[in-house]
Amino acid sequence: MNMFTALVIDEVDGKVTQSIKELSEDLLPKGDVTIAASYSTLNYKDGMVLNGIGRLVRSYPHIPGVDVSGVVRESSDARFVPGDEVVVGGYRFGEIHWGGYSELVRVPSDWVVRLPTGLTLFQAMAFGTAGFSAMMAVDALENHGLTPSDDEVLVTGAVGGVGSIAVALLSSLGYKVAASTGRPAEHEYLRLIGVDSIIERSELETPASRPLESERWSGCIDNVGGSTLGHVLSQLRRGASIASVGLAAGSSFTANVMPFLLRGVNILGIDSVSLEIKKRSAIWQRLADSFPLELLATMTREIRLTDLERYGKEILEGKVKGRLVVNIRD
Ligand SMILES: NC(=O)c1ccc[n+]([C@@H]2O[C@H](COP(=O)([O-])OP(=O)(O)OC[C@H]3O[C@@H](n4cnc5c(N)ncnc54)[C@H](OP(=O)(O)O)[C@@H]3O)[C@@H](O)[C@H]2O)c1
Repeated sequence: MNMFTALVIDEVDGKVTQSIKELSEDLLPKGDVTIAASYSTLNYKDGMVLNGIGRLVRSYPHIPGVDVSGVVRESSDARFVPGDEVVVGGYRFGEIHWGGYSELVRVPSDWVVRLPTGLTLFQAMAFGTAGFSAMMAVDALENHGLTPSDDEVLVTGAVGGVGSIAVALLSSLGYKVAASTGRPAEHEYLRLIGVDSIIERSELETPASRPLESERWSGCIDNVGGSTLGHVLSQLRRGASIASVGLAAGSSFTANVMPFLLRGVNILGIDSVSLEIKKRSAIWQRLADSFPLELLATMTREIRLTDLERYGKEILEGKVKGRLVVNIRD
């Protein structure tokens, strides 16, 4: 019987615990593609799953990890053959379905994306869902009229995973980028990855002083939600949009309708989980083609399955900088 190693979480007396286990291959979920995993990642959502927050997992024991890259080992779908390098993320992989913190992964073939041309398996996970969502956000803003100009695009939660990738991506596409952060010690890091100006997180955390503040941003990628989202709305330039990606500061917000009525601004929802597979491949390839890959190492650290207990907590506390790639086989 083939065995594989995975990080397994279980719920005992209402508390979620985690351990590294050897499991038999016949326990893998249904799916027509089996992948020998190389790397996974730690996203904010993984932190929630690892700590039993948000009721994202329906049944235990469970293998978390919302992303994986690896090599196809078996496939009953002719589109994939053993040896193909692939990426999986979205479709509640790692939430409802067993995920990527596992040497072996089995999924429906309709969830599988070929490794984008120009990326290694490691680089694909340095992006992971965070990078994918940052690319979706830029795409959505551009589809609503954003073009490079003298006005800045604001990225909130800029030192985090989505934030860091959004900053470098926007900068390499020719945009001027402003970053909002609560970590003064990381200002130099932000400049290094392409930020033109920095504002303190606290400036936006309080509600706006007026329904319409001075027009300031040509667009925004918002990773924090909460009162920040309402405040940024009041500072958007006429016709500009916010791509709403995250909720690190909270899932509800208060806003005034005046920016919609008098400046025609928009909030664009970014849902990386259910984007259809054809569009998924295109977003991955645009990310691979547009991102300054030389910056990826600056914002990425490699960790192991055994490190996830610690970092799974730290990401929820806003203490993780950039991206963490999980080496599954080390
Ligand atoms: N919509 C989607 O499909 C999608 C996909 C991926 C991620 N997300 C969401 O996007 C968000 C970011 O994900 P991530 O993986 O990049 O997480 P992350 O690495 O933890 O980044 C979040 C950042 O938000 C800031 N932050 C943290 N706590 C805060 C607070 N209480 N108030 C204000 N700012 C705070 C911090 O940035 P600074 O230190 O720079 O202030 C932190 O680094 C999460 O909410 C995640 O669930 C959504």
